[in-house]
Amino acid sequence: MSLLPILLHPDPRLKKVCEPVLDVDTKIQKLANSMIETMYDAPGVGLAAPQVASMARLFVMDCTESEAEDQPLVLINPQITWISEDLNVHSEGCLSLPELFDDVERPSQVRMSFLDIQGKAHEQQFDGLWATCAQHELDHLNGVLFIDHLTRMKRSMMTKKMVKLKKELVRS
Ligand code: NI
Repeated sequence: MSLLPILLHPDPRLKKVCEPVLDVDTKIQKLANSMIETMYDAPGVGLAAPQVASMARLFVMDCTESEAEDQPLVLINPQITWISEDLNVHSEGCLSLPELFDDVERPSQVRMSFLDIQGKAHEQQFDGLWATCAQHELDHLNGVLFIDHLTRMKRSMMTKKMVKLKKELVRS
């Protein structure tokens, strides 16, 4: 396992639609484990493959509160099978847009089918922060960032901030 560099917005690789994983092989398992390690190190509650420059349809998440009860989930080829009618507004952030947050409205519950790190098929329902996170991460696999759910003005403001941050990071 190793820590992977996280791509920062704006980056064309964050705008691409990822390819389905055809075989959950050791390469994919290694990637997933490194993504979990990278997510905890950041720290963050979710991380999608394009954020670490992989175009595979997978993300990892762990929305548990304390470190003592780590519960990392790996979702490979995730698909929404059901969404609730009721919506929930949550202040979202993203490891590809550090320190920027804004409210996003999404279905408050979601059910997804996916393969786990062993390649076993699951269907699971997510609520609360887990539901928000799962939808945010699935968006990443379709080249969508949380700022794409905001107004054009907010999106351009946040993008400008990120361009400035990236220039500062290059200089330092
Ligand atoms: Ni994100």
